[in-house]
Amino acid sequence: MASPYRIKDAALADHGERRIGWALAEMPVLRGIGERFGRERPLAGVRISACLHVTAETGNLARTLQAAGAAVRLCASNPLSTQDDVAAALAVNSGIAVFASRGESTEQYYADIDDALDHAPQLTLDDGADLVSRLHSVRAELLAGVLGGMEETTTGVIRLRAMARDGALRYPVIAVNDAASKHFFDNRYGTGQSTIDGIIRATNVLLAGKNVVVAGYGWCSRGIAMRARGMGANVIVTEVDPLRALEAVMDGYRVMPMIEAARVGDIFVTSTGDKSVIDRQHFEVMKDGALVANSGHFNVEINIPALEEMAASVWEPRAFVRQYTLTDGRRVSLLGDGRLINLAAAEGHPSAVMDMSFANQALCSEYMVQHADELENVVYGVPQVIDKEIARLKLKAMGIEIDVLTPEQTRYLASWQEGT
Ligand SMILES: NC(=O)c1ccc[n+]([C@@H]2O[C@H](COP(=O)([O-])OP(=O)(O)OC[C@H]3O[C@@H](n4cnc5c(N)ncnc54)[C@H](O)[C@@H]3O)[C@@H](O)[C@H]2O)c1
Repeated sequence: MASPYRIKDAALADHGERRIGWALAEMPVLRGIGERFGRERPLAGVRISACLHVTAETGNLARTLQAAGAAVRLCASNPLSTQDDVAAALAVNSGIAVFASRGESTEQYYADIDDALDHAPQLTLDDGADLVSRLHSVRAELLAGVLGGMEETTTGVIRLRAMARDGALRYPVIAVNDAASKHFFDNRYGTGQSTIDGIIRATNVLLAGKNVVVAGYGWCSRGIAMRARGMGANVIVTEVDPLRALEAVMDGYRVMPMIEAARVGDIFVTSTGDKSVIDRQHFEVMKDGALVANSGHFNVEINIPALEEMAASVWEPRAFVRQYTLTDGRRVSLLGDGRLINLAAAEGHPSAVMDMSFANQALCSEYMVQHADELENVVYGVPQVIDKEIARLKLKAMGIEIDVLTPEQTRYLASWQEGT
């Protein structure tokens, strides 16, 4: 039998508690759902294994699920993203079985996932699909008891769709990432702001006047590009998709292949979900002093092994910065080990956007328990009623009212007879 929790330091609980409370003040939608869940207990007795970045916002989600009656086990979805004080507060003050510690080894990371799975979950919540993948490969004996799952991020949804295509997925999953109330806000404004925050906290670099190269022009990267420009950087975008590249051009950015951008960039940020987007040939032409960071899910977007091979020496001038001196004397600094820089060096997304992402997780958990037996073993979008309801609740919490269609407008929009 696994221990009830494994965290870095239980004495951090008080500090974590204060940070969870601070975050909750910015999460009115989740708070409202938690109050209803407390009355209605829609997840009474449901065992949940959640593999998420263990942050203050996740703490509030875990407590919301617990208020609904669920037994929650929580592990990290990245070895560098755990906030140890939050882990302590959840374990010590809420009796949530947390298995996570910041900076854990890869072996410990998977051992923690195993411990989170040990109570034989009925629901899984994942961010990147490592838990689902472990469940289907190493812990397949537990699959029969799983009703369904939720996936938080783009990379996880891509992995799960590939599993479903191969007929390998053994239970239905809802792609929380695909909700408009999630990726329009979390990926764009959340990753945009917090990635810049992570780069600045790691380096204290001035963005004004710098050439910032943003790899990709998806939901995350467009947020990063927008915020970097807002701080006075000259932003260059690289893409492989012609439509997205065109969008970047018309949004006013310079667009060029990475090999050209590599020659002029001062700061590089990847967020593509792809691998080796910054590769050996790019390091070969970078300027002395270039900073390289990643905000995509896995640490494969920057070819770190190639950089290590090219280096004559390495040192760490400050936390989250590893500076490689290449054989010709040029220095290239890798931030946050190439892991999600917003979670490694900053605090992840602001609570106000996680409010909507985690409202989706909470409402989809309830939906999955009610509807799992009608669903097939494929990846589903978030039901539109949930998506719209979350936007409605967020606007209400912000005190913003919007217009309502008149009966005449409703009729007009549904008719094809009326023209000029
Ligand atoms: N840092 C965070 O907190 C955070 C938050 C949400 C999502 N993510 C992760 O960020 C990544 C991107 O997510 P998204 O929602 O923006 O995805 P997206 O699919 O909207 O965008 C990815 C873009 O990258 C482009 N791309 C792919 N390969 C490329 C290459 N070699 N060079 C240039 N561009 C390339 C694609 O064409 C696409 O436009 C995913 O791994 C996702 O899981 C991170």
